[in-house]
Amino acid sequence: MKNKDLKYARLMDMRIGMFVHYGIYSALGGFWKGNPAPGLGEWIQLRARIPNADYEAFAKENFLPRPDFAKNLVRAAKAAGAGYIVFTSKHHDGFCLFKTAVDGYNSFDFYGRDICRELADECRKQGLGVGFYYSHTLDWHEKNGAGNVCVYNPEGTPANNRNNWDFPDKNIDFLQYFYGKCVPQVKELLTGYGPLELIWFDFPHDITMEKSKELRELVKKYQPNCLINSRIAHGMHDYVSLGDNALPTMPHGLNIECLVTMNHTWGYRSDDQEWKSSAELINILARNLSAGATLLLNVGPIGDGTLTDETVQILSDIGSYARKNAEAIYGGLEPNPFPSPFDFGQVAMLDNKLFFYLEKNSKDVCVSGLTASPRRVYRVSDSASKAFEYKDGELSFSRFTDDEELSVYCAEFDTRVEISGEAKECGNVLTMHVCHAKKASRSNPDTAPTPLVYNTEHTILPGGAFINNTDKLSGWVSTDEYLIFEGEVKGGKYEAELVHALGLSATGPLVERVQARITVNGIPCDVGEEVYRRVASKTGMDNTHVIRSAGILTLPKGKVKVVLEKLADGDCIPVISVRLNRID
Ligand code: GLC
Repeated sequence: MKNKDLKYARLMDMRIGMFVHYGIYSALGGFWKGNPAPGLGEWIQLRARIPNADYEAFAKENFLPRPDFAKNLVRAAKAAGAGYIVFTSKHHDGFCLFKTAVDGYNSFDFYGRDICRELADECRKQGLGVGFYYSHTLDWHEKNGAGNVCVYNPEGTPANNRNNWDFPDKNIDFLQYFYGKCVPQVKELLTGYGPLELIWFDFPHDITMEKSKELRELVKKYQPNCLINSRIAHGMHDYVSLGDNALPTMPHGLNIECLVTMNHTWGYRSDDQEWKSSAELINILARNLSAGATLLLNVGPIGDGTLTDETVQILSDIGSYARKNAEAIYGGLEPNPFPSPFDFGQVAMLDNKLFFYLEKNSKDVCVSGLTASPRRVYRVSDSASKAFEYKDGELSFSRFTDDEELSVYCAEFDTRVEISGEAKECGNVLTMHVCHAKKASRSNPDTAPTPLVYNTEHTILPGGAFINNTDKLSGWVSTDEYLIFEGEVKGGKYEAELVHALGLSATGPLVERVQARITVNGIPCDVGEEVYRRVASKTGMDNTHVIRSAGILTLPKGKVKVVLEKLADGDCIPVISVRLNRID
């Protein structure tokens, strides 16, 4: 990772960003000529195969933000406790919401409005940071935009990402688009709109390393402090954007951003009324605090730039939560210092304070491995003191009965919070996360097991889609390699479980079949049926978590060594953790 922490600490302090997907597609709301087009709102031109001439004609008649749109949008972001906005200056449809000298396909030439400028000015006025999203490879308006080749899937349907009705020619010259539109426009954004917090490139497609590098150099030449997200591709980033709606599970020292939708689309769809609840989104915020990631929360305004009532409500709920619990959200909060995640909720810290974010019906808090007793435990929203127990490094307390959703408790210590040792059973569960596992090889038995390295790069799949595996294990495809986890249990009867993602694997297809064995202190348990599945959102391909049972075993009190083996070569198992659940 380049220039780690250069300005990321600033984003981490701001913690919440508001992602705004806004463009011509917002006025279509997912429908073309009365018919719904499948998929994401902002992909409608491609999904409904709308010719550029028709899309433009529609835009001239129907798409225009209200004069006060920027003021309202920035106000809503502030109300949500966000510190910056990331705004779609040009999405895949190629229409620019800024004045550009490159061509006339932009809001200034269409309506005399430089929408990016309106927004940037308003952000500065109201004290928010500014970031621009820019689609650097796909451009359906350009013959030479990436992917505008007439490619068909084997069954004869048009392949993803391609406007092959306006541009049936197979031969494209990506460099003509790259130097003719992308590079000059990125320069315009970097030189005309004041200091940017970040530029958000989307998406990698088949850009070469050389071109990604040129883009990085361009950004850093004009704005050395402007951060670059990882979808620029080829490791030219300052921080990692996870896959769409993928949630981080543990901190592992990388600069990470988690981007989530409120329903199932980024750009507005009038027929998508399946909203996540505010509680769910607040929970996602806490997961990010615990994993040391920033949250980029998306809104998709309607055609005139107004936010839907549901969006406004969610933003205001998140904001009131953030204000009430500000000491456990902003100000350089550090992630979960324990070597494992917990069942009762999320954990983060700041110097001598440990914060616990508790779901309404969660178990009582129990953590182990502390080096001192707290001097007090209190609920952050009203400072109410809570009785607690502390013995041999283990802290436990129950919650107040009048708690709200995701109440935050603080355990305050005399000195900086310190944690010792490996993962320990707490509240009847021992969770051993893959970021603390080691990898060993059967064919090299004399080589010491090595820590796992996270692959932060985006894997590009045939057809141009991509996945990011920063939140789970990637590349584990051979039966020769196995994983070793260590922890400590209290003794008793346990159910062994494997938690894994269901994303697209590095080798391609969805990992539906898992052939694996968990061996705990020499006792083998074959990984069996799925017992639980959490689907974060329909938007995004790699955000489902699955728990599989591997059977029941009895263990004495003390250390456990767990070996996780793959029983078949092939698809990677995107492991998240191995758990031992005490059942009596
Ligand atoms: C995907 C979609 C794009 C959206 C982005 C947000 O790349 O193609 O439409 O803007 O995700 O993360």
